[in-house]
Amino acid sequence: MKPGKFITLEGGEGAGKTTQAKRLKEVLDSANIENVVTREPGGTFGAEAIRDLVLDGTHERWSGMTELLLMYAARLDHMEKLIKPALARGVWVICDRFSDSSLAYQGCARGLGADRVAAVHKAVMGGFKPDLTILFDIDPILTQKRVKTRGGELSRFDTETLEFHKKLRQGFLDIAKTNPERVKTIDAALSRDAIAAQIRHIAMKQFEGLRLG
Ligand code: TMP
Repeated sequence: MKPGKFITLEGGEGAGKTTQAKRLKEVLDSANIENVVTREPGGTFGAEAIRDLVLDGTHERWSGMTELLLMYAARLDHMEKLIKPALARGVWVICDRFSDSSLAYQGCARGLGADRVAAVHKAVMGGFKPDLTILFDIDPILTQKRVKTRGGELSRFDTETLEFHKKLRQGFLDIAKTNPERVKTIDAALSRDAIAAQIRHIAMKQFEGLRLG
């Protein structure tokens, strides 16, 4: 049995990842590729409980390192109970955020530094990484408006400063630059249909023999 592919969607707040995760699922469904959509932090019962802890409250609730360790506690549960078993069964996994978010948010925007995040990553995850990562790049001035008008509660990250979100964007762009084989950047200011078409095209290029309508 061929293992499934692991695809992650990354970027700042309100960049449209969640909508596109659903669109990608529909496309894979039409191609008869069994798949599951999940998210981080979260995706399993335990990791969703950690999600509530880490997203609720004020900025000061957790230090950068505590936040990072909570993210990795959630990620390990998610990887052990959902991601790896699904991939082993040949199921493709589409994940709304993964470890690049830890590098960009905690490592870069919160200022912990890439080395410390990489050390935690290695200790917890070994060499495990996605087969393809789509980076949704957009000016945070545009997304801050979207986030504030989309309704629902704002998380500890939604209410961060523009400065934080600018550092975050740069953090993600640096990740894309150092991992060109895995991370493909798209312009998240484009229309939903244009983005969905780009993602299909990128996936077909990345995975030999894949045909998506
Ligand atoms: P979202 O699901 O609405 O994108 O919210 C998740 C939030 O958690 C988002 O603001 C990014 C943040 N986050 C981190 O800071 N580090 C991580 O490793 C992950 C997965 C998410």
